[in-house]
Order: sequence, then structure tokens, then C-alpha cells
Amino acid sequence: MDNNFDVIVIGSGPGGYVAAIRSSQLGFKTACVESRKTLGGTCLNVGCIPSKSLLNASEMFHKAQKEFKNLGIETSAIKLNLSTMMGNKNKSVLTLTKGVEFLFKKNKITHLKGTGTIQNKNTILVTDESNNKNTYKTKNIIIATGSSPASLPGIKIDEKIIVSSTGALSFEKAPKELVVIGGGYIGLELSSVWKRLGSNVKVIEYLDHIIPGMDRDVSNEFLKILTKQGINFELDSKVTGIRIINGKAVIDFTNNKTNKKNKIECDKVLIAVGRKPNINQDINKLGIKLNNNKKIVVNEKFETSIKNIYAIGDVINKGPMLAHKAEDEGIAVAEIIAGQAGHVNYNVIPAVIYTSPEVAMVGKTEENLKKEKIKYKIGKFPFLANSRAKVNNEPEGFVKIIADAQTDKVLSVSMISAVAGTMIAELALAMEFGASSEDIARTCHAHPTHSEAIKEAAMAVDKRPIHF
Ligand code: NAI
Repeated sequence: MDNNFDVIVIGSGPGGYVAAIRSSQLGFKTACVESRKTLGGTCLNVGCIPSKSLLNASEMFHKAQKEFKNLGIETSAIKLNLSTMMGNKNKSVLTLTKGVEFLFKKNKITHLKGTGTIQNKNTILVTDESNNKNTYKTKNIIIATGSSPASLPGIKIDEKIIVSSTGALSFEKAPKELVVIGGGYIGLELSSVWKRLGSNVKVIEYLDHIIPGMDRDVSNEFLKILTKQGINFELDSKVTGIRIINGKAVIDFTNNKTNKKNKIECDKVLIAVGRKPNINQDINKLGIKLNNNKKIVVNEKFETSIKNIYAIGDVINKGPMLAHKAEDEGIAVAEIIAGQAGHVNYNVIPAVIYTSPEVAMVGKTEENLKKEKIKYKIGKFPFLANSRAKVNNEPEGFVKIIADAQTDKVLSVSMISAVAGTMIAELALAMEFGASSEDIARTCHAHPTHSEAIKEAAMAVDKRPIHF
């Protein structure tokens, strides 16, 4: 094989594989190094995709058990076959990782199997499973090595009793008692899965609210909804240690306000307190700068402090750790290398929590707008007043649109809805085009759909909703 490339991407997650495909489309001779057996990174193998499979299947199970009879659908006793559910999840993962393999072949991308190490700005060393080493020359390097679960000081994730999201996606049976540390994306999605499949779930969150980073209105309402679903919360609580005693975990935690010490025993603990960037070599030595959070510092062209070495995705100091942010950066960086004007608009990156109902947001939170002293108007519309949500028995949640007080330009949209994850795309598009709330209010939305609540919320910005 010819060992000279125009672009070598390290990592084949949503950032890396997309960067490789776009590079190849632009005419670059491209390779992608991946140490995992299958392509697709955390997202496809142990993140977005398997979690969404379990979220979907567990929601069906829950509905069949609890809701079918109200719709006149009678069944004999509904039973869980967890190993079939896990098999279905594994099949989805395999199909999608094979899909990336197919796309690599289609785009003539060389898949270098092993761990990539940057030797200098034009050389990558790849060490495979059997410790065989090969070097490859390249004009450009894109680091897209992603992130892995963070833990708490003194607490070791064993993936048996103390698990990360990876372990919690493969339990052999639903734990009787599951404690989740961290009320963010991962904590709440996986709490939902295991609650529906029969676990007693308690979430311990350090802050006095869940989903930091989302609008506080949404966070408060979502907490009520999850509590109603039977998930228990200990907010404002700091975990001080976890001991394993007779195969069970004992978690010590202290309330931040009262200083009251508590402990709780459980079968499994999920640590979901964030993720840390994957950097497997001392890249400081190469001259690549890291920030205080050990993330690679890049400029607006995704260049690191070394020319021709670029970085994207979870490993960089920009934007949220989200698969779709990394994908957009993958496209942008390839275009920048090709001399084009690749660009990512960090003000318009949607965020979605795939629980039931879903939570989605794009733009700034109301709290941030206040801090920035931006004057705004709010339009809110509840799904209780949306006909489609009502007939589907999905009355929870609302749409909240925030528009600039003077120009009416939409600054942010938050929502809780059964289909929030799908609907948020309309608002991202509107914001990308610089829409005003009036533009959305005057756009015809099909009836009966959940999306009419968006139009109504836009009309509510001007205090003229029709159905509320
Ligand atoms: P996160 O940042 O969403 O939430 C972590 C939570 O843990 C926060 O609420 C934080 O206050 C809390 N926390 C931190 N230290 C704590 C402590 N000592 N005790 C108790 N609570 C503590 O992180 P998460 O859920 O681990 O997700 C990691 C990343 O993966 C996120 O950046 C997220 O964006 C991404 N992700 C995205 C998903 C999606 O798009 N649906 C799904 C899963 C993950």
C-alpha cells in the first residue's frame, strides 16, 4: 500500500468519519485511523445509537404495559425479554457501523486499523492489536479522538457495579436499585430506560436543578415530569465516596445546603458526570496547546497550534460535546483544508434529550440572555392546548420562544414534547435564516400536528395565540 496521504483523520466517530468522507469528496487522498474494532466511535458503538435503541424499546414496553389498555388494545401479560431487547440494540449498532464501513469503501477511504500516534506534523504511527507498527505520511492531520466517561475523585468505574454509560447499556438484568450520579443527558436518558424496565431509580445531582445548560423553565418542568414517572431525585447533593460491600454499592453523599450526610445502598451505580477528552499521547510535547480542561485549543479554522494539524469534536475547546456538532465541524474542516469557507454556527446547535417526552433546545437560555442584558420577549404555548398532542395522550410540555424585544429576531427556542427532537430542526433552520417570531407565526403549519404549538408560541410572543 502507498503510505502517503493528503489527509489522515484520527478517530472514526461522527466527527472523524464525516471529515474523512468530505475530504475524499473534495479530492483528497484520505485515511482514517481507528483503534476500536468497528467504525463509528462512541456515538455508534456505545453512545447515541444503542441508547436510542433501548429508549425506543423500553418506551414501547412501558406503553404496552401501561397505556395500551386505555386505547382499547387488550393483551395478555406483557413480559420483558431483556436479552432479545439487547440483541435488537446490538443489531442496530452493527448495521450502522457496517454502514460507515460501506461509506468508507464507496469513498475510497483507507481504514487504518490500530491506535494512531502523531510523530510529527506529517507522520502518523499506527500500532495495531498485535503491536505491529506502521508509519504513514500525510500533508494534513485531523484529530477527532472524541471523549470518554469522566469519573469522580477516588471512584473507579469497574463496569460491573460502578458503571459508565457503556456498562449501563448492557446490564444483563434490570438492577433492583439503580443510583445515577449526574442529572444531565446521559443520567436522565438511562434513568428513563431502567425505570421503564423495572428498576427503582434515584438520581443524585450536585446542582439544585437538573440538565444544567438548558433553559431553567424547561429544567423545572422536566423535573416534575420525571418525578411523576417515578424517578427519585436528590438534588444539591455531593457524592463523597462509594464503597462496595458484599457485592452492593454504598454511596455516601452530603446535602450541599444542610450539610446532612446520607448513604444509600444499591445494586448498580451509573456515573454520568460528564466526559473527558481522549488524548492518548503527550501532545503538549509536540507543541499542541491544551486548555485548563485538557481540551485541544483550536482557532476558527480548527487549526491547533501546529500548522496542518487540525482538531474537531469532543476533543476541542469549542461548543457542546454533541455528535452533530462534531459532524458539522468534520465537514467544515475538510472544506477549510480545501481552501473553501467551511464554517460552524455555534449559536445554532440544537440539543436534545431523548426521554419521553423529549426535551430540545436551540440558542441561548433565558438566564444567559439576562446575564448578557439582552432585552427579550417570550411566547409560550402548552401541549395541553395542541390538538394532536391531546389525541395522542401526550399533553405534557410546552414550546417557549424567546425573541429580541426590538427586532423580534428569534434568540432561542426550548421545548418539551413527545417529538421535540424532530421539531427542533424547524427552529434551528429558522434561526439560521435569521427568522423573526413573526416569520414563524405567519408560516402555515399542518393541522393536526405537534408543530402547530411552535406557530402558536410564535404568535404568543405578540400575545395573540389562538388556542390558548
Ligand atoms: P452532562 O454534562 O450532561 O451532565 C452531567 C451532570 O452531572 C450535570 O448535571 C452535573 O451538574 C452533574 N455532576 C457533575 N459532578 C457531579 C457530582 N460530583 N455529583 C453529582 N452530580 C454531578 O454530562 P453527561 O450526562 O455525562 O453527558 C456527557 C456528554 O455527552 C454531554 O456533553 C452530553 O452533551 C453528551 N450526550 C449527549 C446526548 C444527547 O445528545 N442526547 C446523550 C448522551 C450524552
